[in-house]
Amino acid sequence: MKQRLQKQFPKNFFWGGALAASQVEGAATADGKGLTTADALPHGVFGKVEIPPQGDYLKKIAVDFYHRYPEDLSLFAEMKLKMLRISISWARIFPNGDDETPNEKGLAFYDDLIETLRRKGIEVMVTLEHFEFPLHLVTHYGGWKNPKLIDLYMRFVKLLFKRYQGKVKYWLTFNEINVTLEAPFNGVGINRSLDQIDQTEMYQAIHHQLVASALAVKAGHEIDSNFMIGNMVAYSPYYPLTPKPEDVLEAIQENRKTFFFTDVQARGTYPAYMQRYFKDNGINLKITKAEQQLLQENTVDFISFSYYMSYCASANKEGLEKIRGNVISAVANPYLKKSDWGWQIDPVGLRIALNTLYDRYQKPLFIVENGIGANDDLLEVAGQKTVQDDYRIAYHKAHLQQAWEAIQDGVDLRGYTAWTPLDIVSNGVAEMKKRYGFIYVDRNNDGTGTLKRYKKKSFYWYRDVIESNGSALFAEDQSAN
Ligand code: BG6
Repeated sequence: MKQRLQKQFPKNFFWGGALAASQVEGAATADGKGLTTADALPHGVFGKVEIPPQGDYLKKIAVDFYHRYPEDLSLFAEMKLKMLRISISWARIFPNGDDETPNEKGLAFYDDLIETLRRKGIEVMVTLEHFEFPLHLVTHYGGWKNPKLIDLYMRFVKLLFKRYQGKVKYWLTFNEINVTLEAPFNGVGINRSLDQIDQTEMYQAIHHQLVASALAVKAGHEIDSNFMIGNMVAYSPYYPLTPKPEDVLEAIQENRKTFFFTDVQARGTYPAYMQRYFKDNGINLKITKAEQQLLQENTVDFISFSYYMSYCASANKEGLEKIRGNVISAVANPYLKKSDWGWQIDPVGLRIALNTLYDRYQKPLFIVENGIGANDDLLEVAGQKTVQDDYRIAYHKAHLQQAWEAIQDGVDLRGYTAWTPLDIVSNGVAEMKKRYGFIYVDRNNDGTGTLKRYKKKSFYWYRDVIESNGSALFAEDQSAN
């Protein structure tokens, strides 16, 4: 008789969800919170920078997680989440970023949020900076090009490490640190378009974040040797559009725009290909010997990344179809379908991404964002309002199946925090209409809506996947065996 193999994920796999403060909390100036760079992008990464932001904008209230988190956390527990990735808004704790003393009301919010998660048995992962820092640090210091931000970030980070020691084990230093190359204001607070930016200034700001990240790893390990501190990049692998050697080389160069960051954070040195890039482009950075040593001695414990899509690379710059992803615009892949927002869907690309990162670094990996932004219809089914989001289920299912394959390939994958457990304001276009959640939030692009929460079909599906430790993903294949 043929033995039926139960396909499962490793024991203690972190099935989770991920959120970002500026996209969920709202309460933009409540209880002493200062405005942030995210508030200064009221229309999203692709919109105009407004300092200060004018009029109403969706992130001001977002989905009111600041006031509604007890209800949301109960729903997450009902979904059986084992991990929640949150971010802590720097400006809730230090409203201007350079304040001498922290804002206790801001801390009280995160104290209770973290405590409630722990009571519900949900492991917390904290992103220390998720696409927002106090706006005052842009207007008075010029953003991350100023090395003073390193000390100010460390004041914030050390406070959190000490306060949440024994409660939070998993930390990420900067969200999608590589995205500055495409969206400099969003990443480092330099308000210039890519064709006008001073490259030395931008890479110096990036260097300051890389130094801050290594300092956070060092301080974290000194405070608690059990801490697991990771980096976080947006990783969309590039494939050569054709086997033409020039296209293959182009794909290598494009992939290096991400590997530059992971190489510094996981291997501890600036790679030779970046030295060449700096030389060829007249980029002169101030990097001290002490900083080099710091980077070398304080590499991350694990690598985390967001995965939404892959791209193609071609040496030919004319006449090719281009697609835009979260911030990058690149050559389209003729073999792939697109989401409602034009992002190409490539589950096998996730297996490729996992294998590539693991082969390169041999460090534990976390997928900390993966999901699909779609137009959802709230309907009444058997007297209950819900969304029949089979497209979202199909997306996550296909990606998780490929993550399972990567684990069979030998990749040390520790967790998957889906983007997102509930609908939130999009980062790129600052819309509510672009929905990612397993829970629907009644809020519309024009700001109307009751903010009530409704479980989508995907809510129950994800709960079943978690409860079966992944085997529900393969239910059909297994019953066919
Ligand atoms: C990532 C960010 O870039 O992608 C998130 O870390 C963001 O903050 C997510 O929300 C999805 O992008 P978008 O633009 O659809 O919100």
